[in-house]
This record gives sequence, C-alpha cells and structure tokens, in this order.
Amino acid sequence: MEKNISKIGVFTSGGDAPGMNAAIRAVVRTAIYYKKEVFGIVQGYDGMIAGDIVKLGARSVSNILQRGGTILKTARSKEFRTKEGRKKAYDNLTKNGIDSLVAIGGDGTFTGLNVFYEEFGIPSICIPGTIDNDLAGTDYTIGFDTATNTAVEAIDKIRDTALSHNRLFFIEVMGRHSGYIGINCGIAGGAVATIIPEEDVTLEQLFQKLDEGGKTNKKSSLIVVAEGSKIGGAMDLAKKFAERNNYFDIKVTIIGHLQRGGNPTYFDRVLASKMGVAAIEGLLNGKSGCMVGMRNNQIVYNSFETIIHNKHEIDHEAVRISKILSI
Ligand code: F6P
Repeated sequence: MEKNISKIGVFTSGGDAPGMNAAIRAVVRTAIYYKKEVFGIVQGYDGMIAGDIVKLGARSVSNILQRGGTILKTARSKEFRTKEGRKKAYDNLTKNGIDSLVAIGGDGTFTGLNVFYEEFGIPSICIPGTIDNDLAGTDYTIGFDTATNTAVEAIDKIRDTALSHNRLFFIEVMGRHSGYIGINCGIAGGAVATIIPEEDVTLEQLFQKLDEGGKTNKKSSLIVVAEGSKIGGAMDLAKKFAERNNYFDIKVTIIGHLQRGGNPTYFDRVLASKMGVAAIEGLLNGKSGCMVGMRNNQIVYNSFETIIHNKHEIDHEAVRISKILSI
C-alpha cells in the first residue's frame, strides 16, 4: 500500500537528545534498504525554510550510532510558526522532490508538523526524541535513558561530598513540565525528597521530612528538584530554605545541559534503531500524520492529535516507591 513515496526528508528538531543520531542512521539505512532516496534537512524547520538540504547515503551515517547530539543539527524555529515560513519550507521540499518527511523531536516538533501536514498533506511520521520522556503514545522517548543515567552519575558524585561535609544539596535536573527524569533520579540516586512538577509540596513538608530523617540518624540529604517544579527551582528552594532554617549548610547543583550530551546508552541506541526502522516501514505502508511509539516493547503508531492532546502521565508507582524508600 505504498503511497508513491520515493524521496524522504529526515530532520531533527527541538532540544537534542542522545540517540537522535542512531535514529537518523536507522531512518537513512532503512529507506535505502527499500530503494528510496533520503535527504537530510539541516537545523530542523529553519533548514527547511532556508533550503539547507543534503542528499544522504548509507555511508553518510557511518560512525554516528554511538555519538550524542545530532549530525543534522537542530533548532526551535520561530519562522515555522508563521504561514509564510511554512510555505517557504514546502516550496523547498518540492524543489528537491521530497515527497515525505520523518521528524525526530518532541512535542513542539509534532505540533509544527501537524499544522504543516494539515496545510500541505505531505506524508509525515515522527519519532519521539527528547530527554524529558513527556510524550503520550510511548513508554520511553529517545534520550531519556541516557540523560537519566548521566544525572544519576552526577548525583552519586555529589553524595560523596555531601556526606563528607554533612551538607544539604538541592540538585536540579531537567524536565520543564515533566517529572520523569526527576522521579527516576530520586529513586536511583537515593534522594531524601524529590520535587516534580506533577506534585504539590510545601516547604513545611520538606522541613518535616528532613527532621524525621535527622531523628533516625539519616546522614545524607540530597533533594532532587525537577526544573519545572511549582515550588521553584533548586536555587529558589535553597534560598527559601536558608531564610527559614539555619542549621543546614546548603549547596546547589544544577546538572543542566550535561544531561543532553554524551554517548547514548545501549537502551537508547536500540530504541532509536527500532523506531527509525518503524518510521520508514510505517510510511511505506501508508501511515502518516502519526508518531512511532514503543508500548510494552511493541511498536505502535498514534495520530499527531492523540499525542498533542494527551500527556504522558507521571509514573505514580515510581512516585509511591520513592516515598517509601526515602524514610
Ligand atoms: O525538552 C528538553 C529540554 O532539555 C528540557 O528538559 C529543558 O527544559 C529544555 O529542553 C531546555 O531547552 P534549551 O536547550 O533550549 O535551553
């Protein structure tokens, strides 16, 4: 049921995520395996608008499977939000004979592609690539596993120095609207408390938690804070804590963009490879306007509408477990 697909454009967009290169490689090689041509669009939607498009071959994607970042570069395009920008992008695709698209990115990428798809009807499939793991329709997004491992490694190191000095550390991890990285880092890093955007917590509750730990001779005090938490980021919290409490020596570490770089883990490489193959095979089987996902270890496809209008609910069991284990 192939829909006259012969020239496929692939691009990465939004925040980069480790494993994006593995996904690009899988898309390119699968397309070539099925005797299709592939073009890389450089710097996401901005490159589409500027006409920065290059032909890719099987060897163009050699030696990238294990590398972080994205060889196609990425951007959060403002111009693509305008009708004129999208028209320019469409004209450039047409000029290069590109008849279908594979986008690797997060919710912003899909929202843009959904509008583009409605306007120009170009067959399109997305692959979820974001460290946040905040997309409905998939158990895991590409990059989440690597980012979480990077953050946990940092937390282990902070624990060494925190314990040596009996200090309280607020450690901020990424996740603008999502506590996935936070809650898993909290469990794996043994945090005394984890603060995530999905949960309300008061300063009093945090004081109480630390007091309880102190009474039972708890020595380490690491608090993991997801950057989008309602009560504030690690800096704000540390300040508020210091104003109200004088018996702790308080420090802050913001792990930040360190979480976005580095070689993808085995898990992210395999996930990206499976999703890349599924994106091309989906396109060639007539699927369009949808995102590839992995649910219970099975490839699934969900429409852009479903993905955009639903949230990836926080893992409530993980939240419960983190509370039990942090006493
Ligand atoms: O969406 C991925 C993400 O890494 C978020 O966790 C973070 O809030 C944001 O991107 C940071 O974006 P930027 O790199 O543009 O500062």
